[in-house]
Amino acid sequence: MFRLVLRLLLAALVAPQTVLADGPQADALLARAKSRWAESPYGPMLERILPPGFDSAQLPAPKSVGARLTLRYCVQCHNLPNPAMHEAAKWPKVVKRMVERMRGHGNMGRLMADLMAGVEAPDDAEVAQLVAYLQRYAQTPLDPKVVPEAFLPEGEPFRLACKQCHVLPDPRRYTAAQWPAVVARMERNMAWMNRVVGSKPVAGEPQLRIDEINAFLARHARK
Ligand code: HEC
Ligand code: HEC
Repeated sequence: MFRLVLRLLLAALVAPQTVLADGPQADALLARAKSRWAESPYGPMLERILPPGFDSAQLPAPKSVGARLTLRYCVQCHNLPNPAMHEAAKWPKVVKRMVERMRGHGNMGRLMADLMAGVEAPDDAEVAQLVAYLQRYAQTPLDPKVVPEAFLPEGEPFRLACKQCHVLPDPRRYTAAQWPAVVARMERNMAWMNRVVGSKPVAGEPQLRIDEINAFLARHARK
């Protein structure tokens, strides 16, 4: 009992300085983590894993423990991940893969060994908090029963383009007026992450049909 109280007390005392970085402190942490990988010989590859542009201020519930753990651990090798990128069911697997790397058992051998110097790994309790946070603000997948059109020819431009990096998003997430800005950001994400963007047409490869994607999303958007 006494030890439990002591642990709780210690956690309360220690956490605010170490884990719970905020504001300028969070930005400093981000900058420091980023320079670690950006300056490594693998920087260009790591830089492309996730797009830039999603910053600490955009994390949902930025003052929560989950947001601060994400800031502490998830920028050590690449840009900050957005919890809304993946659906809840996917996050445990992704986090598991990342934690194995942080703990030195990654699948990228030499690269990770070099980068590992100085990389911090979360403990099991923190992993649970990270997963809970990412799941709470996760992407809502498209429900094929609600939008069966996504799997008909009219949904093809949307389906081909928008399932390359994450699950097909629920069109009801945004209104017809809001979607084009999100789609434009995804176009930049595609250029960044080197997926099909349609800028250099290659015979036989699906091209990005932005107008048709926006029209499809508008038809099934939130009213
Ligand atoms: C030790 C380095 C390292 C750390 C720390 C790290 N990652 Fe990664 N991450 C990688 C590498 C390498 C890849 C590319 C290979 C892959 O996808 O496994 C990647 C890819 C990703 C991707 C894109 C691939 C996908 O499945 O969508 C996401 C999202 C991601 N990481 C999330 C996270 C989260 C969340 C954390 C914090 C819990 C984290 N990463 C911490 C190295 C790291
Ligand atoms: C090249 C990879 C990639 C492709 C292809 C892609 N996305 Fe994304 N998507 C991301 C990344 C990375 C994030 C998280 C960062 C962000 O929000 O920009 C994300 C997040 C999202 C989110 C949640 C973010 C929010 O603010 O609501 C939605 C919705 C989304 N994508 C829709 C789409 C649509 C629609 C398409 C097809 C036009 C698409 N995505 C294609 C990489 C991609």
